[in-house]
Amino acid sequence: MLPGKSYEHILVISFGGQYAHMISKRIRELGVLSIIAPYSTAYEYFTSRRDMIKGIILSGGPLSVKDLGEDLYKYRWIVETDVPILGICFGHQLIARLLGARIETGYGEYGGTTVLVRETDPLFNGWSNRERVWMSHRDHIESLPENMKVLAVSENGIIAAFRIIGKPIYGVQFHPEVKHTPKGMRLLENFVEITGIGRNWTPKDNVDRIISEIRDSIEPGAKAIVAVSGGVDSTVAAILAQKVLGDRLIPVLVDHGLFREGEIEEITANLESLGLKPLVINARRRFIDRLMGITDCEERRKIIGEEFARIFEEIACSDHSIKYLIQGTTYPDIIESGVETGSNRIKTHHNVGGLPRQFRLKIIEPLKHLYKDEVRSLAKILGIPENIIRRHPFPGPGLAVRIIGRFTVEKLEIVRRASKILEEELVKSGIYDHVWQAFAVIGDDTWVGVKGDSRSVGHIVILRIVVSDDAMTADWARMPYDVLDRISRRITSEIPEVTMIAYSITTKPPSTIEPC
Ligand code: XMP
Repeated sequence: MLPGKSYEHILVISFGGQYAHMISKRIRELGVLSIIAPYSTAYEYFTSRRDMIKGIILSGGPLSVKDLGEDLYKYRWIVETDVPILGICFGHQLIARLLGARIETGYGEYGGTTVLVRETDPLFNGWSNRERVWMSHRDHIESLPENMKVLAVSENGIIAAFRIIGKPIYGVQFHPEVKHTPKGMRLLENFVEITGIGRNWTPKDNVDRIISEIRDSIEPGAKAIVAVSGGVDSTVAAILAQKVLGDRLIPVLVDHGLFREGEIEEITANLESLGLKPLVINARRRFIDRLMGITDCEERRKIIGEEFARIFEEIACSDHSIKYLIQGTTYPDIIESGVETGSNRIKTHHNVGGLPRQFRLKIIEPLKHLYKDEVRSLAKILGIPENIIRRHPFPGPGLAVRIIGRFTVEKLEIVRRASKILEEELVKSGIYDHVWQAFAVIGDDTWVGVKGDSRSVGHIVILRIVVSDDAMTADWARMPYDVLDRISRRITSEIPEVTMIAYSITTKPPSTIEPC
């Protein structure tokens, strides 16, 4: 069974915008299955599941409608279908252009903006005639043909929403999917109502859908490796895969030497309690030897990706019925790695863009359309214990992305010990479960310290503690001073090579969560 073949759903066509999957997630939150297809394959997707698609949403993206040239007509089929359509940002301009509107560059709007709703329309049910919305556009619709009606304009006079007269085809220039558009969810709900689709999709259906997708991807009798790291994503992927494969599934935990203190033992015990006995590969030497002295984090990610791939291939060489590698990749990993057509690369998550081109196992990523909170709700349904569900995300390349500058064993050990102290103090003070991630970072900068009566030059350790809903944006945690003070005192006394603790107070964006 192909995704979406047996469930009615809303298709989100992704034009590469960072928020495309957020749209899909919001639709699922409204109790409706939503599936994303990149613009390059959307037509094939649509024609193969035509009867199950009850609405289409077009995402925003970094493209400009004005640069499409002849390619514009590739999308004509969208406005010729008879399903309700909502275009967002780029999608809004694309629909308008396809129907003869003029698009211009030069009057961009960014951030919070007021829109004035001019017409009564089911899309704006529950909206008053002035509402705040989130804008992020460079191009705008300059004029509309006669069969289209302006529903709302921005405070700057830009067309903020339109509909085709007599048809459920809409465009909105703003982003209803982000929290900064307070009535955005209501607008999406109105669109769902317009499509007439039933709202009975539950996270439990996700479990059934993913299991059948895994089943359909695997040849009868073949075996698969599932790469486990102890985090909730790979644990959920492993449990779901186990339901399909039973003992044809081989959970593999690669110890790259970049885990936190005591983590391998803890992960092994956690997985065993779930009936997954991981094959632990001690590969510390081969990873650390290759990373030594490397300054560029992207290069480190590439090395780590390559070593992971080699290890999986070595295991597969010993048993030719192993044909697949299952990974717990989630949507933010994919968008940040820039593997979706049209999106920019921010970081190559090793499990996504870091694998070599020539890889003999087929990759299955059953969670790749989901966000962390959706994976956490699957984990609950699957009975995964709370301590695993609540575990902070930990990057696949581990502590290697928390070392700025040259990679050295000394820096690795410092960051490992400092992270342990930080986590211990957060658990003790009851803060751990209220933050998204908390870790220590080390660079090459030093600070003169005084220990006893003598001068000592030591390292600076930066603490990064962030709150976030989905890692796409993040804020720094407003920590109680006494907790920060305790952490600082413990790190500088228990790790003599450290003479200064700094606290990171930059949001994402403009920063990212991990330092590199
Ligand atoms: P950034 O640093 O891009 O991180 O704001 C967003 C989320 O992704 C995690 N992260 C990674 N996860 N491989 C992973 O599996 C990676 O290379 C990687 N880099 C960042 C990060 O911890 C945060 O939760």
